[in-house]
Amino acid sequence: MSDATRPEFLTSRYDGAANRWRDKMRALGYYDGYLGFLSARSIDRSADQSVIDMGCGSAAFAEAWVAVNGPPDQLTLVDPSPGMLDRGIAALAARDVAARPVEGLLGQVSPASATTVLAAHIVEHCPEPVEALRQLGDLLAPGGRLWLVASKPHWCNAIIWLQWRHRCFRRDEMLDLLEQAGFDVEFEYAFPAGPPSRTSRGYVARRA
Ligand SMILES: C[S@@+](CC[C@H](N)C(=O)[O-])C[C@H]1O[C@@H](n2cnc3c(N)ncnc32)[C@H](O)[C@@H]1O
Repeated sequence: MSDATRPEFLTSRYDGAANRWRDKMRALGYYDGYLGFLSARSIDRSADQSVIDMGCGSAAFAEAWVAVNGPPDQLTLVDPSPGMLDRGIAALAARDVAARPVEGLLGQVSPASATTVLAAHIVEHCPEPVEALRQLGDLLAPGGRLWLVASKPHWCNAIIWLQWRHRCFRRDEMLDLLEQAGFDVEFEYAFPAGPPSRTSRGYVARRA
């Protein structure tokens, strides 16, 4: 593992970027992209809803979930960066949602399981993607769904890699990783416009 991909180093870099992350997610179209992804499949609103946003950053994905589905019964934000968590909690508070912050890395924290696990652009930072996907699956309550957004190969990601040293996954590669991690993929999403259409792909999956 190079210095640039070590969790402590990465976390200090994300912490340094936290102040501007929410504006950046909006300016580049990721918040709108997440809204479109989450609106593409309806959920059962009659059942209790609990949500974990793993690697939440400033919580753009969780915020979009609330905008589309309304406030969940429980919302947990997980991130190793305290600066990101502070911004995420504040963003949700502005929507009258009291989210619970959990500081730490996937696999090293144990939030209560949830009916929805959101994970956008985080598996690409994990050393073992299949293990990371299994750990995300372990956070799901029975019948729950993983909403995953992962980077895909594109020259835009080559530029982003210079800063963040993240991985990218071809569609067939991610489908294989999800299968190895014990998931059935129910739905895939091609972001229709802007940077998300070039950098990312969405997957909705349930434990098989
Ligand atoms: C590219 S940002 C994405 C943030 C957010 N999900 C979004 O879409 O705006 C990656 C985030 O994942 C966090 N992260 C990196 N490695 C992680 C890990 N192993 N477990 C949990 N979070 C991690 C970083 O601190 C950072 O906030």
